[in-house]
Amino acid sequence: MPPARNAARRLPVEMALHRVSTARHRLPPVFGTGQLVILGLGVMIGAGIFSLSGIQAATNAGPAVIVSFVIAALVCFLAALSYAELSSTIPVAGSVYTFSYVVFGELWGWLVGWALVLELLVAAALVSRAWSAYALATLDGFGVEVPAFVAERGQFDSGLNLIAPAVLVILTLLVVTGTKLSARVLTIAVLAKVAVILLVIGVGSRYVDTANYTPFVPQQQAAESQGTVLQRLLGDAGGTFGIFGVFAAASVITFAYIGFDLIATAAEDTRDPRRSVPRAMLIGLGLVAVLYIAMATVLVGLRPYTELGTGAPVSDAMAAAGVGWAASVVNLGGLLAFTTVIMVVLIGQSRVLFAMGRDGLLPRGLGQVSRTFAAPSRSGAVAGLAAILLAFYPSIGSLEQMLVLGALFAFFFCAIGVLVLRRREPDLERGFYAPAVPAVPILGALATIWLGLNLTTDTWRNFGIWMAAGLFVYLVYGRGHSTLAHGHDDAHEPTHARGRHSR
Ligand code: ALA
Repeated sequence: MPPARNAARRLPVEMALHRVSTARHRLPPVFGTGQLVILGLGVMIGAGIFSLSGIQAATNAGPAVIVSFVIAALVCFLAALSYAELSSTIPVAGSVYTFSYVVFGELWGWLVGWALVLELLVAAALVSRAWSAYALATLDGFGVEVPAFVAERGQFDSGLNLIAPAVLVILTLLVVTGTKLSARVLTIAVLAKVAVILLVIGVGSRYVDTANYTPFVPQQQAAESQGTVLQRLLGDAGGTFGIFGVFAAASVITFAYIGFDLIATAAEDTRDPRRSVPRAMLIGLGLVAVLYIAMATVLVGLRPYTELGTGAPVSDAMAAAGVGWAASVVNLGGLLAFTTVIMVVLIGQSRVLFAMGRDGLLPRGLGQVSRTFAAPSRSGAVAGLAAILLAFYPSIGSLEQMLVLGALFAFFFCAIGVLVLRRREPDLERGFYAPAVPAVPILGALATIWLGLNLTTDTWRNFGIWMAAGLFVYLVYGRGHSTLAHGHDDAHEPTHARGRHSR
């Protein structure tokens, strides 16, 4: 078969589902809807609300960062409707990677999966850096003296950060040794961080000074920054604040909602995924949107926006308002929040690599479930190792927009995927139907493009380089090793799995 046709081969839906029900490489289903919501909250509530909210208010949007949170929530909600339908139709571990494989063919499936890998890889490394900075702030808040040697290696932008890789090693071990332990740790941590957010909203709202809400949208200011793609396209001079700033902040703040999409990667760990995955996505996203918008409203009311650009803006604002005790609790909450984000991101990444390995697009050893831990331990170890290495990169903060672009890329393909699959396979069993099709997916795709255009030109260039690398890997490895290329399903292949999970 000529290469172009090879790359266009599509994974039949029946095969994607059949693999899950009969394959040797099977994950044990342990989650219900409630646990999936916990998983979603575990990965959504993190650096986005505890750090980015203040930084974006101070540098891009002013008090209108509240509007940025609303815009990002709407775009993510539109994307989630499509995600929910696809994950209720093809409830398998690869999430949008597998959806795209089924709908658009192998090459696009791989590229979307590659973007998802970027999203998860950067998220784990970046949040581990935030974790190290918050750990120092927390110890400081409780009066614990940290030796200078350690403090120097724990800042977010330390040239050589050793705390971030260390925490990744520990969390990788948890992920590698099984979902159950991870889920238990997750539940406690998620409850604690939601309590901290409610504390900030409840206590902080009493200290709000309404004068801090004006000017609500600060005037656009010239800045060194190169500006967004949209500013370039419109011939705008660039700079920060103004209406462009509100949208630019919305794009970056999409980071805070990232995680609802990861619920789909747990489909195979779920007892009734067609029902539970879409529900958990929409419930989880709705809950965090309310929490975030309320918390952002309190935050910009506590302090002038110009003073919110600190490493720990929420606790600093509480301290500045005179509620120092709450500041320490917030730092602790941030630390817990980041811990669960990293853990769920690593779990999600392990599921995506697992699915790619099972399909033969990555080495097939990754698509195996460990007999000892009943978890995809090898893919978990690879996910963790990659994040550990990236956590050493000093300018990791500059990769945040790339992470968002990777997520938006996947959102776009989900939206188009719903349209294509409804036409091509109208009779497939769907546990959830996106409403108002085709309007909702079309709006979702347009909204995703719009947010993408509000990211910087450098971000697009770097993302292009990452995707070109992905194309190279596919051409050199995946195309030739694909299970589909060999015309058989892995369930019928001689296994080289170390074992099958027996229930
Ligand atoms: N949504 C996650 C966070 O805000 C990635 O940290």
